[in-house]
Formats: sequence, C-alpha cells, structure tokens
Amino acid sequence: MTFQAVLFDLDGVITDTAEYHYRAWKKLAEEIGISIDRKFNETLKGVSREDSLKRILAHGGKTVGDEEFAALAKRKNDNYVEMIAAITPADVYPGILPLLDELKAAGKKIALASASKNGPFLLECMGLTAYFGAIADPAAVAQSKPAPDIFLAAAEGVHTPIGQCLGIEDASAGIQAIKSAGALPVGVGKAEDLGSDIALVPDTAKLTLAYLEKVWANARG
Ligand code: BG6
Ligand code: MG
Repeated sequence: MTFQAVLFDLDGVITDTAEYHYRAWKKLAEEIGISIDRKFNETLKGVSREDSLKRILAHGGKTVGDEEFAALAKRKNDNYVEMIAAITPADVYPGILPLLDELKAAGKKIALASASKNGPFLLECMGLTAYFGAIADPAAVAQSKPAPDIFLAAAEGVHTPIGQCLGIEDASAGIQAIKSAGALPVGVGKAEDLGSDIALVPDTAKLTLAYLEKVWANARG
C-alpha cells in the first residue's frame, strides 16, 4: 500500500519564511550583543520560538530573567509578523500548489505539522487553508521538534496512521521528528544539513506526486 497522507512543514517548505525567521532572530540577537550566522541558524530551523531564544542566549553566553525572556521572544515575533504581513499566494514556493492539487485529486490527506504559531495566518495569506484537512496546534503538543509530537498530532488530525504518512521538512530537527514519529521523511535541502540517509530534493519544484510515490515505493514498497 502506498502513503495516505502528507504532513507538511511550513517555514522553508511551503514558502520562504525560514529566511524571515533568520533575519528576525539575527536582528534581535544583535540588539542584545550576540552574533549569529547562517551556519548557527541551521540549529534553529524547525525549533520553537522559546527553544530558539534559549539556544541563541546559550550561544552568546547570556542569561536573562523570565520577564526579559518573554519580552525578547515577543520582540522577535512582532518584527517577524511585520515581515510576513505582505505575504501573498505569489510567495508559495514553486511546485507546492500543483503538488497540493495532485494530492487532493489522488485522495491523499494533507496536514500541517509546523512549529510556528503563525502557521494558520500564513496559510490564509497564501490562500492555502482549504487544502489542509488538519493544522496541528504547536501550542497543544508537549514537546517541540525534534520530538515527534507535532507530526503525530498532524497525522491524528487527518485520521491516518503515522506509518502511512510522508513528512516533508527543510530542517534537521524536523527530519528527526518525522523519523521518530514513524513517518517517511522527504527533505528539502542538502545532505550536509539533513543527512544522506533520506530522500532529498534540492528545491520544492521537484516535489511531485510521482516523485513521492517513487520515494515511498523505494523505502516501503
Ligand atoms: C518553525 C521555524 O517552523 O517555527 C522556526 O522553522 C520557528 O524557525 C518556529 O522558530 C516557531 O515559529 P513562531 O512563528 O511560532 O515563532
Ligand atoms: Mg521548516
């Protein structure tokens, strides 16, 4: 049997918001005297807002009280929300809309497994909400990526056993989450970041139903 559902990450898979997260974190880090680069940013991808801030503070050898921590997380998000306000359907990555149409036509379930609390807003901005049978709520899961929770919740949301799901991710933490959930991972990115033991595409234009069917047949067929 082939896969029955696809569990999508959002930032860096459906649109380029991974770049905005990076810019917003870099700005905040600089404001508090911490310097981060793209290599360090790989360790933030897929990671929740709070865990990202913890990692940045640890990277800079800085500790802050609870109140300042909450204020810094809010400041980053306010800046990020300003950046994404102008996102439209034109910002959907190449190949994603045709893939969603193919999946829908083939009767596959579609769910969102993003760590972002801005996920529902972004799907609305891009006109994609109606494709998604479920949007897993990151605020409702016990542990964020690399824990499997958000992928398990997304599969449950579309009433599909996790073993019959594919997960698409651009982050190392997300690939780990898909693996430990028991779904089949497809990575968008490079082997040096995501590992050489999974199916990888260099960009989303390569994500077609035929490609996903082939990945499934190779791994589970
Ligand atoms: C993930 C991003 O999808 O969501 C992370 O890859 C981000 O970079 C996380 O920190 C949480 O997002 P938000 O929008 O709730 O701060
Ligand atoms: Mg991502």
